[in-house]
Amino acid sequence: MRTILVTGGAGFIGSNYVHYVLEQHPDYRVVVLDKLTYAGNLDNLRDLAGDPRLEFHQGDICDQTTVERLAQGCWAIVNFAAESHVDRSLMDPGDFIRTDIYGVYVLLQAVRKFGVERFVQISTDEVYGSVPHGSSREDDRLAPRNPYSASKAGGELQARAFYESYGVPVLITRSSNNIGPYQYPEKVVPLFITNAIDDQPLPIYGRGTAVRDYIYVKDHCAAIDLVLHQGTPGEAYNVGGGNEVNTVQLATAILDLLGKPHDLMRFVEDRPGHDQRYSLDCSKIQALGWRRQYDFPQALELTVRWYVENQWWWRKLKSGEYLRYYQEQYGRRLAAAQR
Ligand code: NAD
Ligand code: TYD
Repeated sequence: MRTILVTGGAGFIGSNYVHYVLEQHPDYRVVVLDKLTYAGNLDNLRDLAGDPRLEFHQGDICDQTTVERLAQGCWAIVNFAAESHVDRSLMDPGDFIRTDIYGVYVLLQAVRKFGVERFVQISTDEVYGSVPHGSSREDDRLAPRNPYSASKAGGELQARAFYESYGVPVLITRSSNNIGPYQYPEKVVPLFITNAIDDQPLPIYGRGTAVRDYIYVKDHCAAIDLVLHQGTPGEAYNVGGGNEVNTVQLATAILDLLGKPHDLMRFVEDRPGHDQRYSLDCSKIQALGWRRQYDFPQALELTVRWYVENQWWWRKLKSGEYLRYYQEQYGRRLAAAQR
């Protein structure tokens, strides 16, 4: 029986991946290590409670003792643990540097020490920086432009260095923007859906022209699992949905799916250093046999439906710390907003 340590497994993509692994590999054990920051949520794993193949530990990937205890005897580690929101990194980068760089180093040391056979570092298309034309390939220069993406680039460069220097079996995935169940409502899609359900304004940065490539989280999980089992150590793999959409198109599609008026859109002061476009060339992972299963309309419809049907999950998150963050991030901007 193989054991996979999934770090950050109580977050959005990590919890979807835990579900995916237990479905796809009935004979695997999954150990989750998660600090349960504001973004970590045991409700994301609630329907798996009682599954004897899943074990949960609350703890920090920066804590060597905890990491070593859990890494021992694992076949693989898949690292989702991170501070993950660009806007928060602009407010306060310290935790990003700690978790997204130093935390990766602690995990890599344990992989090396205990001979763990595979280490997958979940990275992002944002490490390439803004891409005005064409699509990024894996050997393109990394040019991150905000504290989040710079920290993610630092983490994956440490991983790459451990491969080159010590032969640690590292694999890197760089995915585009995920959407789907269990995404904390600070990211644009769940923020817009939950605000629209409540007839609250949708804050669109700048003129809403920034382009992102949205991918359904299950497609990303399938790609990660393929890379874990069939990727070549030392290599990075782009994982994109092939769905390039700007923020106005995104807001319009969400409002239409919910039958809400377009005048809920508000154009607010832009994000500083806002990357205007990301785009991935995915031929490398396609050569391994991966294809996306969900196009943008399907992915968005499934996502909207999930938030409509699972208000128990997100309503309680929109309180306390979230409201303080929301006020700091949007209060002044929305007061000065244009329709
Ligand atoms: P998330 O913020 O929803 O989840 C992160 C999880 O990591 C949370 O459960 C949190 O509690 C945990 N965590 C944070 N610091 C930790 C620490 N020090 N020790 C242990 N656990 C810690 O993020 P997500 O959207 O699920 O992203 C997961 C990974 O995928 C991240 O590495 C992110 O950079 C990457 N990624 C995300 C996207 C996206 O669209 N969301 C796209 C590409 C890559
Ligand atoms: P986000 O979900 O924060 O992801 P990314 O890490 O790619 O920035 O934002 C996605 C896009 O949506 C990005 O171009 C910024 C924009 N956006 C808004 O216009 N308003 C918002 O309130 C948020 C959170 C994002």
